Amino acid sequence: MAIQTVATSPIPGQRPGTSGLRKKVSAFQQPHYLENFVQGVFDTLGAAAGQTLVLGGDGRYHNRAAIQVILKMAAAHGFARVLLGQGGILSTPAASCVIRKHGALGGIILSASHNPGGPEGDFGIKYNGANGGPAPEALTEAIYQRTLALAEYRISDAPDIDIDSRGTRTVDAMPVEVIDPVADYAQLMEQLFDFAAIRRLFAGGFTMCFDAMHAVSGPYARAILEGMLGAPAGSVINGQPLEDFGGLHPDPNPVNAEQLIALMAAPGAPGFGAASDGDADRNMIVGRSFEVAPSDSLAVLAANAGVAPGYAGGLAGIARSMPTSRAADRVADALGIPCYETPTGWKYFGTLLDAGKATLCGEESYGTGSNHIREKDGLWAVLFWLNLLAVRGGSVRDIVSAHWQRFGRHYYSRHDYEAIDPDAARRLMQDLRIKLANLPGQNMNHYQVQSADDFEYTDPVDGSHASQQGIRIMMTDGSRIVYRLSGTGTEGATLRVYLERYEADPAQHHIPTQQALAGLIAIADSVASIAMHTGRSNPTVIT
Ligand code: G6P
Ligand code: ZN
Repeated sequence: MAIQTVATSPIPGQRPGTSGLRKKVSAFQQPHYLENFVQGVFDTLGAAAGQTLVLGGDGRYHNRAAIQVILKMAAAHGFARVLLGQGGILSTPAASCVIRKHGALGGIILSASHNPGGPEGDFGIKYNGANGGPAPEALTEAIYQRTLALAEYRISDAPDIDIDSRGTRTVDAMPVEVIDPVADYAQLMEQLFDFAAIRRLFAGGFTMCFDAMHAVSGPYARAILEGMLGAPAGSVINGQPLEDFGGLHPDPNPVNAEQLIALMAAPGAPGFGAASDGDADRNMIVGRSFEVAPSDSLAVLAANAGVAPGYAGGLAGIARSMPTSRAADRVADALGIPCYETPTGWKYFGTLLDAGKATLCGEESYGTGSNHIREKDGLWAVLFWLNLLAVRGGSVRDIVSAHWQRFGRHYYSRHDYEAIDPDAARRLMQDLRIKLANLPGQNMNHYQVQSADDFEYTDPVDGSHASQQGIRIMMTDGSRIVYRLSGTGTEGATLRVYLERYEADPAQHHIPTQQALAGLIAIADSVASIAMHTGRSNPTVIT
């Protein structure tokens, strides 16, 4: 066995997006495509001697082949060892946990998150650093620049190894420890939440349904919910990870998780429902005929954090992405702690978590998490809710309604226009930017514009700066319209329009969301001329 130096040339377009490099499987199957990117990562990281690398993915199509390639490249670069999830499986949160716990240099996670899988679907690769979090922008940009200058990559010609049974084996003398992908993560969850109380809840007859959508959360959910906590067998549905997610779209929203939504609306529905995405970092929380908006979920958890032993000492601060509703800000105010507003992308929470400024973080895109790792964490949110239900009693609806009574309700919705022409999308945003200065003071549909801008962010910890992070139109009554282009899509461009309206009066808290937001929706369309630019009269997805 020997280390081969293979001649290659730069492949354009390997710039990581919001969360790693995501392309069609067919792109990754091109000769040298994966190898070039991994070489870019290893070159940028520098010395591997003495270092541990964590490796695993969400089990989607191409995961297993990519793992063999990366193992051989890691061996060629002199890593001291690789910790590999059994079967090539590691959820994104579990990978973050393993990196931190075992003092690794970092980890490579193979996932295109919530994007569809299978031979015709998407594949992805991302690098997380020693803190367990996504590589910061400066690092991903350096990796990208490096991919543009490659002339060769290094790889061992060792044979493929068995990745399906636990134990240590070698690739060209480099030890690969095939580990239980669930154990470290489950142990961490047990430290954070009151497992005894949740066990009592289930023992008392409480029922739930967790929809793993045939993605990577299945083994974690079965082991923890059904195994450790005693949820009835069958509480986890679609629990077997499949390479094509069984044809499901593993993005937990009411549209994609229709089986769960229907179950939760049927007679005899379980007391609690939840779903997670491809790599298990997202979560959706559902009560009986009641969907919890992700922005509300963050606010509710923050207001009740004391129920969980891991957070009983109080929160240092809360952080949310800019388009996420300001429900969490009200909780932070009441608690007398800061609430940070960051650009979209979990990576922006990393510095705040590392510096101890924020304890809980959340995004409207079904992401919630804390300082326990450096990724959002789907099952963590589910356990937090179970802990809350176990301690507080009542239903999901009761808990959220009581929260609104106390803090007021932020009606919230996101309208997505998917797969639109990228040039048309850019023109729409450009035209909006030009209009911004004239908007303040204008009256529209009973609203008056207070201010309008293009969100910019300076990181309070490291001073790094991000501009053009979303156009905001703020109304005098606290309502908001935000426009952004998605950084995670792989087909054309996706325009996201985020709508938020604050309602203090409890008598007005139970209006259907789209009805409550109708006035803002009409303004959003007319100000940005969405129909004209996109040729679409309706969004493709409403969450
Ligand atoms: C990923 C990231 C999130 C982000 C989401 C939506 O899940 O980890 O941090 O909020 O994508 O991103 P997008 O750019 O598509 O709105
Ligand atoms: Zn994900």
